[in-house]
Amino acid sequence: MKSPRIFVPNDATAVACGADRVARKLEAGLAARGVTADITRNGSRGLFWLEPLIEVETERGRVGYGPVKPSDIEDLLHAGILHGADHPLCVGVVDEIPYLKKQTRLTFARIGIINPLSLTDYKAHGGYRGLERAITLGPSATVEEVVESGLRGRGGAGFPTGIKWRTVAAAPADQRYIVCNADEGDSGTFADRLIMEADPFCLIEGMTIAGLAVGATKGYVYCRSEYPLAFVVMEKAIEKARDAGLLGNNILGSGLAFDMEMRMGAGAYVCGEETALLESLEGKRGLVRAKPPLPAHKGLFQKPTVINNLVSLATVPVILDKGGKYYRDFGMGRSRGTMPIQIAGNVKYGGLFETAFGIPLGELVYDIGGGTASGRPVKAVQAGGPLGAYLPTHQFDTPFDYEAFTAKDALIGHGGLVVFDDTADMADMARFAMEFCAHESCGKCTPCRIGSTRGVETLDKVMAGEKREQNLALLTDLCHTMKLGSLCALGGFTPYPVMSALNHFPEDFGAAPKLPAAAE
Ligand SMILES: Cc1cc2nc3c(=O)[nH]c(=O)nc-3n(C[C@H](O)[C@H](O)[C@H](O)COP(=O)(O)O)c2cc1C
Ligand code: SF4
Repeated sequence: MKSPRIFVPNDATAVACGADRVARKLEAGLAARGVTADITRNGSRGLFWLEPLIEVETERGRVGYGPVKPSDIEDLLHAGILHGADHPLCVGVVDEIPYLKKQTRLTFARIGIINPLSLTDYKAHGGYRGLERAITLGPSATVEEVVESGLRGRGGAGFPTGIKWRTVAAAPADQRYIVCNADEGDSGTFADRLIMEADPFCLIEGMTIAGLAVGATKGYVYCRSEYPLAFVVMEKAIEKARDAGLLGNNILGSGLAFDMEMRMGAGAYVCGEETALLESLEGKRGLVRAKPPLPAHKGLFQKPTVINNLVSLATVPVILDKGGKYYRDFGMGRSRGTMPIQIAGNVKYGGLFETAFGIPLGELVYDIGGGTASGRPVKAVQAGGPLGAYLPTHQFDTPFDYEAFTAKDALIGHGGLVVFDDTADMADMARFAMEFCAHESCGKCTPCRIGSTRGVETLDKVMAGEKREQNLALLTDLCHTMKLGSLCALGGFTPYPVMSALNHFPEDFGAAPKLPAAAE
């Protein structure tokens, strides 16, 4: 009889929820019964409220049980989970769970399905087909395929990836670089981490395609220091790819060269900003550089550099495999393809939801996310990280689309949504935004360095009821100065959470409430 195949995730979320203890208990329980089983440590499917989620391969598909505690294992084995038996923790066939079934997984197609460090698994699920096609197409046609896909940077600014690659490819140089931005500092986001931990070859393939396309032979992944597990998984995957001739001087026997290395950040949010990141990679303090020159012309070590977010790079393999047109057929307007939306905060069903652009915000919060975990009414959602606006419920019909969000003074950013219930004090949240900016400011320009500290002081006065109207006017004026006078988006976007909190929830600042229509 074939040994049963069981999956227990070992990404950081599942491990934090106790997956390692569950795996050990499962091994012991199977050994005690004399059962030989193949326990594969996969990555999370991104349905975090179910973690640790055990899956058992059956004729019906992979049947899931979760969230499993070590103390549940005996009962689960007794019930017959090795045959996909029913049990109160059984969630049925995992692929049929509506949260997963409603998604369009292109970038995250293999997440939770494969053993992250198995090249055989990776290739069996479409891996390296994109690179093979890129080698056949050659550099400029590869770049044009990415242009055709309409892919825009998933790190925040939404700049077209193919156009950036074209610029780097055309810049005369003896050396070019690919830099992957895996600093992932935005609140509520984890998409970069999940790729590194659950499908690392996808990033390696994407960076290799980028390297061959623009003529760069060297790549670096700048990984945030809070991701030690992702760092280790990536290092192992790079080693395996090198051993298999998928990195190095003769990629897939083509005679073409590309290699890459991991680098660890030191915990500064501003080092996610591309030029501060480059400074940090060069071993210097993470100070933002003035632009121009753009990194595409003078980037790492003053050489032309593609710097892309991790999700942007990990989306390239599917684009090359299935074609730019296939990818651009998903989405709306100028927002093409899919976005891994990360639903977090005070929400019932937190996790990763990859879907085509255009889905309304309210559907994500209520229908997918299930509303608040506390069961209280939703008050607002902060989208796009700590520099993103708070959207109140009357804006929940806004489609998830770069332009539609911009029209509401909001940001899609890296696709993070943080949900708040009606107990949230928006004046506190506005103060937090200013305090965060003061703490993370690189100090290069005055509106951000000094303005954010003055912002905290002014908000403290407002909250203490001191000359409220004058101080609110001062705060508005200060936000205007920061928005227009800051060198980078840290100082330039901090006003958005502050002003959206004030405009939509003036009563939290002790000011007279506005009608919703006037708040926009
Ligand atoms: C303060 C600040 C922090 C940022 N943090 C990140 C980050 O953690 N990850 C990221 O990919 N981009 C971040 N960005 C955006 C990058 O500067 C840059 O636009 C991005 O890496 C480009 O890649 P993309 O075009 O693929 O999005 C940040 C920008 C600012 C201003
Ligand atoms: S806005 Fe802030 S983080 Fe950006 S360059 Fe100025 S001081 Fe540095």
